[in-house]
Amino acid sequence: MDLKIGTCTLELVTGDITKQQSDAIVNAANSRLAGGGGVDGAIHRAGGPSIMAQTRQTYPQGCPTGDAVITGAGKLAAQYVIHAVGPVWSGGDRGEQESLASAYRKCLDLAVENGCGSVACPSLSTGAYRYPVDLAAGTALSTVISFLKENQKPAVIRFVLFDDPTYAAYEAALREILE
Ligand code: APR
Repeated sequence: MDLKIGTCTLELVTGDITKQQSDAIVNAANSRLAGGGGVDGAIHRAGGPSIMAQTRQTYPQGCPTGDAVITGAGKLAAQYVIHAVGPVWSGGDRGEQESLASAYRKCLDLAVENGCGSVACPSLSTGAYRYPVDLAAGTALSTVISFLKENQKPAVIRFVLFDDPTYAAYEAALREILE
């Protein structure tokens, strides 16, 4: 499913984010930037050790929840990996929504600062961090749409959703926003 926002395009697809040809891909990282499973494991496996070497050297202090940092992308087709730290879900009254929105905004700020025309994002926080996907989808999409309306870049933001239920949640959330 695609949505035009001015000259920009927001896309929803199913797939594996490590296979994306976009200028930047977003990693669902943890605040120690220590690697892990899910998207994080897949990106470091496919991109090789240079990505972790760079996070260790450039960001030894890690990255707080709701923030993001950028590195090269090693062997991946993308030019950059943007490591975003979404919140761990703990019931919804611990600022999870604001942290999730902030993580996406920081990703897009970094993408624009680094001249990326296309960015691929996973569904931050909805795996190991247990954020309910229906809620996360609404926040992710409304944050990205606001950013595109304000900035008119990057030209393409593609949500790369790993499975059909996640895709369906994002599609439903997008239809609801458009109503
Ligand atoms: N491409 C796209 N999406 C993927 C991929 C992939 N290769 N692998 C997993 N996903 C999906 C998951 O199915 C889920 O919908 O990405 C979403 C986010 O799941 P996680 O990767 O578990 O991310 P998150 O919930 O933010 O948890 C982050 O997990 O791996 C650790 O180091 C990471 O501690 C951090 C935590």
